[in-house]
Amino acid sequence: MGNPIVADHSNESLNKPVPSMLEVAAHMAEAAAAVRRQWTAAPRAGIILGSGLGGLADRIDVEAVIDYAAIAHFPRTTAIGHAGKLVCGRLVGKPVIAFQGRFHLYEGHSPSTAGMPVRLLQALGGGALIVSNAAGGLNPQYATGDVMLIDDHINLMFRNPLVGANDDNLGPRFPDMSSPYDRQLQRLAMDVALRTGFVLHRGVYIGVLGPNYETRAEYRLLRRLGGDAVGMSTVPEVIVARHAGLRVLGLSTITNIGSADALTETTGHDVLSVAATAADKLAAIIEGIVDQL
Ligand code: HPA
Repeated sequence: MGNPIVADHSNESLNKPVPSMLEVAAHMAEAAAAVRRQWTAAPRAGIILGSGLGGLADRIDVEAVIDYAAIAHFPRTTAIGHAGKLVCGRLVGKPVIAFQGRFHLYEGHSPSTAGMPVRLLQALGGGALIVSNAAGGLNPQYATGDVMLIDDHINLMFRNPLVGANDDNLGPRFPDMSSPYDRQLQRLAMDVALRTGFVLHRGVYIGVLGPNYETRAEYRLLRRLGGDAVGMSTVPEVIVARHAGLRVLGLSTITNIGSADALTETTGHDVLSVAATAADKLAAIIEGIVDQL
């Protein structure tokens, strides 16, 4: 007998039509109303916690926790290291929401679905978006466990969450991208690193589709294209945030070295365990910034 055929619902969104910007916004307005029934504060920031960084939510004085499964229209998260919960509460006394888990394109989600957490933040009245991720280091000066402030990005996913009819109430048809990562928030982050005494790089994040890590030749190419770090998330979320007019701060934890000359094997579990070692640095930066919002 062969293996029984098991229905796999983990990738349901793959088979659904891509939701339009208008549909996502309508769905997130509904989701925001549901969040409001449990939590009524106006968030100063929405924090998207990347792979292995979900523990940061432990620092929040929690006022409500909402399972993604309980948020209408939110897909489940299938990625390892992503709990799939929305944590609402206070961080250093300021109201914030934290997303423990995001929606990656490599899971089969559309770019507009990847932007849903940001549209939910927008529907809740906005606030700054703080995004974190695990990334491979392309810059030879980077070591594993280092943190990089994202100064700019390159979208090599070749997909965009704003494709389709534009809703001018949500944002402009042709959003500006001359400075997607807020300079003032970057300055605050650098001040925290200086005060606390750890290295904080600043560089260009390249977003790729994944899910495989890169070949030697690909890492070499990505470096030559101008990247300092490479990862499989963040870019769709930041595009939606800029469309929505939200200020953005992006942080990458360097979990593996993407060097063509010294490439070693990378696994998802290695990435998670290295990401966890940088959690204190990330927490210091995020708290330092939220304190000023
Ligand atoms: N490449 C792409 N995504 C990643 C990597 C990488 O090397 N490390 C963590 N996420």
